[in-house]
Amino acid sequence: MDWNALKSLAQDAKGRRIEDLFDDDRAARFSARLGDMLFDYSKTNIDEAVLDHLIAMLDVAGVAEKREAMFTGARINETEDRAVLHTALRGIDDAQVMVDGKNVISGVIATLRRMEAFANGVRRGNIAGEAGTAFTDVVNIGIGGSDLGPAMATLALAPYADGPTCHFVSNVDGAHIHDVLSGLNPLTTLVIVASKTFTTIETMTNAQTAKDWLLTSVGPDNLIKHFAAVSTARDKTSEFGVDPDLVFGFEDWVGGRYSMWGPIGLSVMIAIGPKRFAEFLRGAEAMDNHFRSAPWRENLPALLALVGVWHNQGCGYATRAVLPYDQRLARLPAYLQQLEMESNGKRVSMDGADLPVDSGPIVWGEPGTNGQHAFYQLIHQGTRIVPCEFMIAREGHEPNLAHQHQLLVANCLAQSEALMRGRSLQEARAIMAAKGLTGDELDRQARHRVFPGNRPSTTLVYPKLTPHVLGQIVALHEHRVFVEGALLGINSFDQWGVELGKELALALQPILAGEASAQDKDGSTRMLIDYLRNENSS
Ligand code: F6P
Repeated sequence: MDWNALKSLAQDAKGRRIEDLFDDDRAARFSARLGDMLFDYSKTNIDEAVLDHLIAMLDVAGVAEKREAMFTGARINETEDRAVLHTALRGIDDAQVMVDGKNVISGVIATLRRMEAFANGVRRGNIAGEAGTAFTDVVNIGIGGSDLGPAMATLALAPYADGPTCHFVSNVDGAHIHDVLSGLNPLTTLVIVASKTFTTIETMTNAQTAKDWLLTSVGPDNLIKHFAAVSTARDKTSEFGVDPDLVFGFEDWVGGRYSMWGPIGLSVMIAIGPKRFAEFLRGAEAMDNHFRSAPWRENLPALLALVGVWHNQGCGYATRAVLPYDQRLARLPAYLQQLEMESNGKRVSMDGADLPVDSGPIVWGEPGTNGQHAFYQLIHQGTRIVPCEFMIAREGHEPNLAHQHQLLVANCLAQSEALMRGRSLQEARAIMAAKGLTGDELDRQARHRVFPGNRPSTTLVYPKLTPHVLGQIVALHEHRVFVEGALLGINSFDQWGVELGKELALALQPILAGEASAQDKDGSTRMLIDYLRNENSS
């Protein structure tokens, strides 16, 4: 891959302003649609030549072949020797996806039907706990991919929630489970332990705490009625004491951060019901079909990826702000953080060679308009450039508050316009002069009010945050991350970078308990251990 050619195009682009690229139909040419969803990237410094180059890069990297390999069940996660088939979880009855000579779709559908029966039973009160009355609350205990997806989606789809209230516990910090459980009645609470491996220390510790909490109220014989599990490790769920009929399994070809379409999404299904959950899956499936068939210039995931690569590897902008003007997408930035940073935060390519360019971007963000009153100052006037990804629905869920939605839309559009246009020194001087300032004070004050502009952003617009649209949005980002990873030539589906810290945490536990010596630790770690064990802390 000729990264230097991309960097040199980016260097040339620095000499021009985004606004100057606009002609009568730039907005139409530098945007793409899937049905009612519109992705506008015309407010970036990408021109025809850059777009041609970026699209040519897709061919050089063999992205189309890699995409087919993923969809058809090849073992593309080479460092874990696994297929990558979260897309199969969006499968429908007559689909065929083969792994090791076997069509996996029938298993996916069978699990989905079991989930639906269970979710309906819980929602209707046919499946109940010790009290015999319907569960009022569901607590999903999981972390990372076993938490972020369902937590994000449950909040996003709150207007569709008509089942028991779902809560999410992830952190090993006892404060998290304490605060969630203290508001709940154990007799009407169902706990779902969600862990692909069923070994994750945070999840297993919280699951044990929940067990102890339930035990005192429901007694040992009824405990089993209050637990369900979602895992690939059935032996471990039995050891923990979950009824095998209430274990929802999935295969190793579903990565943790790609797993909410199957059993990891059980809490979402209980909250919104199987019918709405099916709409969510169909939304993702529509994006899969689009990604697989649309030409690159019309292909939303590919275009998002190309804009990302242009900004990150081309222009050298290290971070990417995700700015949903949609309060119910408040957890989307955190969800995308894992999706992008755990997938593409790698330093070697598939063959083990050092990457010649930076890997995936740092993803962060907050919903608008809140962020405007916090970090937008830096985005507009700071010395670093932060590409911004705005998101906004045409319509909210509160018709009686349509005037507030209009204000939200106005703010969203104003921000991308301001980032691009900026405000010149001359304009700033005119404003200050109109306020009566003159001379040196006018010069000084005006400089603080200059906005350099020429700052890139994209905007994703969708009709309304329905289950179908949320499915599209999430699958859009999954495939975007895939294309970015394919261009970099990395394995987007492993996560070895999380292991070292886990190993060291395990080794530190006996030291903190005073059962092992800290003498092999560095001076800093020894001092911190002493302090935290309340030794020599003065
Ligand atoms: O530590 C990272 C990670 O392995 C993520 O990839 C995963 O989503 C999370 O932990 C939770 O894993 P599990 O579902 O096995 O508990």
